[in-house]
Amino acid sequence: MTSQNIYILAIESSCDDTAAAVMLNGKILSNIVASQKIHEAYGGVVPELASRAHQQNIVPVVDQALKKAGIDKSQLSAIAFTRGPGLMGSLLVGTSFAKSLAFGLDIPLIDVNHMQAHILAHFIEETDFKKPPFPFLAMTISGGHTQIVRVDSYFKMVVIGETIDDAVGEAFDKSGKLLGLGYPAGPEIDRRAKLGNPKAFAFTKPKVGGLNFSFSGFKTAVLYFVQKQVKLNPNFIEENLNDICASIQYTIIGILIDKLKLATKQTDIKHIAIGGGVSANSGIRQALKDGEHKFGWTTYVPKFEYTTDNAAMIAIVGYLKFLEGDYAAQNVMASSRLKI
Ligand code: KG4
Ligand code: ZN
Repeated sequence: MTSQNIYILAIESSCDDTAAAVMLNGKILSNIVASQKIHEAYGGVVPELASRAHQQNIVPVVDQALKKAGIDKSQLSAIAFTRGPGLMGSLLVGTSFAKSLAFGLDIPLIDVNHMQAHILAHFIEETDFKKPPFPFLAMTISGGHTQIVRVDSYFKMVVIGETIDDAVGEAFDKSGKLLGLGYPAGPEIDRRAKLGNPKAFAFTKPKVGGLNFSFSGFKTAVLYFVQKQVKLNPNFIEENLNDICASIQYTIIGILIDKLKLATKQTDIKHIAIGGGVSANSGIRQALKDGEHKFGWTTYVPKFEYTTDNAAMIAIVGYLKFLEGDYAAQNVMASSRLKI
């Protein structure tokens, strides 16, 4: 425990959410996210529109985060920001803002890796959530990421599996688009899956070796399947929507659980922490819970607001790096392909 009060202001702008959070000694005081609705009309994130929206949102979002935390910027100990990975135009907005603010206030600047942040979100001080013990496996699943990472300590992490093409969230969203669902389709597929038969239709699982994933073939399989059925019955989608959603979700869950089983076997680590927007999926949560009895693993799910893109997760990494005196130089650059 520190006797000093360490206030971190964190900024996240890697994709389509402009977010700011204030943390005091590991506890969140405010966590503000401005989600950009503009992309819904396009069925996916449009990078140029995202960076413009970040420019509009960043000042009011940071302002709100400070107000809600009830502090003045002069009390801040450091500014943490997402350096990457993400969309370059989006990252540049947060990076330049963080640099100027840290320079103006003459306090340390701390660069954060977005993927590490999804994992370390489990270490935000929260009363009702248990933290995973080291070493553990982290599975980060969202619209932009699909990774399994072996986490030996806060900053010693090794990616042991990842997607070679689409992210799992894209598998949900693109399949949903084929079915005429809105963007992002993940939550709607989840809702409908509860009303349908998961074994109504069979989709073959991709054959990717080891712990890597592939979802682009899955999306094509759904496309061909839908096209073929609609030729036979033009009302096929409407008449079977819940069953199709349940079958898609069932297949995706199977793919994720198979890889986790293999990962626990290969590493002999049985603590599994999940993060990313797709970890909101009720079927995945249930399958992970069932695995506790079936496969003897223990699962950790952070508070919902810390699973999707947010700045609270950037703040915890900022705080941990602050304690180590691990600061960034003023000439640090955003990096769209930053690795763990
Ligand atoms: O972490 P996130 O908010 O943003 C990034 O992509 O980084 O994740 C968004 C993704 C979308 O693909 C969305 O469809 C998916 O998470 N998602 C879900 C659910 N809620 C969100 N997928 C399946 N089931 C859900 N309940
Ligand atoms: Zn993310």
